Amino acid sequence: MPIIIEKLSYTYQSGSINAFTALKDIDLTINDGEFVGLIGHTGSGKSTLIQQLNGLMQPTSGKVTVDGFDMNDKKQRAKGRALVGMVFQYPDYQLFDETVYKDISFGPRNLKLSEDEIDRRVKEAMRLVGLDFDEFAEKSPFELSGGEKRRTALAGIIAMYPKYLVLDEPMAGLDPAGRRAVLEMIDSFRRQLNCAVVMVSHSMDDIARSAEKVVVLKDGEIFKMGTPAEIFELADELNEMGLEPPFAARMASALRARGISLPGCIYTNEALVNALVEFKGGHSNV
Ligand SMILES: Nc1ncnc2c1ncn2[C@@H]1O[C@H](COP(=O)(O)OP(=O)(O)OP(=O)(O)O)[C@@H](O)[C@H]1O
Ligand SMILES: [Mg+2]
Repeated sequence: MPIIIEKLSYTYQSGSINAFTALKDIDLTINDGEFVGLIGHTGSGKSTLIQQLNGLMQPTSGKVTVDGFDMNDKKQRAKGRALVGMVFQYPDYQLFDETVYKDISFGPRNLKLSEDEIDRRVKEAMRLVGLDFDEFAEKSPFELSGGEKRRTALAGIIAMYPKYLVLDEPMAGLDPAGRRAVLEMIDSFRRQLNCAVVMVSHSMDDIARSAEKVVVLKDGEIFKMGTPAEIFELADELNEMGLEPPFAARMASALRARGISLPGCIYTNEALVNALVEFKGGHSNV
């Protein structure tokens, strides 16, 4: 069963003179196991939208159901929320316990699992996020680097085996190697735990690599939704919104402009390399 968002609108400080409508008429479904990339200019409503997925915020109008649980209803919300793991942009807000081990085990402990199962899950989650147990388990989260904190926050969420994993800018502030590592990690536990992922990212390259469905928000509305190929084809519109298409898509379009004939819908580096190799094969003197 999916997450279904129907006609959702959200107004901050509704009814006051400062009322601001951040989301308008959003219809969106997040299917089981699907990887959804959420992009949009700053202030377009991405964070506001994902906070509706676990009931942290309730719609001003419209409806969110998580596997049939109505998130407008207090009792049902708790059940729906248990299925949705949320990792915020700033891991500092998420870490609070004395040791990495205690921090990661907090969620599973709340699920009232046995100590053995908690221990198993903490170890598994640490392995999945690439934190060495002997080195990190007894460390204080506050001694960690930015990347290690992010991994700890992620581990705490995946140890609860969420059915839907929601990530707000999980790669923000990391260097390219760190970004790749976190993205690979997300891919790998998605496969192992079979969960759906909703990822907000400013990086079109990261979205292009992983997402099956891309949602573009603009001024609180869904501007476009489709496969990465369908979305990244709209290079001009994305550029106008201040969203830079993936490197490979920009490169392919520059090469086409120079008369090099390449197939459409190139948006990953791998596809670009393949297309260039093919092009060269057809022009052996190039
Ligand atoms: N607590 C609040 N009160 C009033 N307006 C708010 C509040 N939080 C956010 N907003 C406004 O709602 C709009 C959407 O904000 P949101 O944080 O969801 O955008 P975003 O797409 O996540 O942006 P970013 O890419 O910068 O993270 C923005 O115009 C923002 O100023
Ligand atoms: Mg945001």
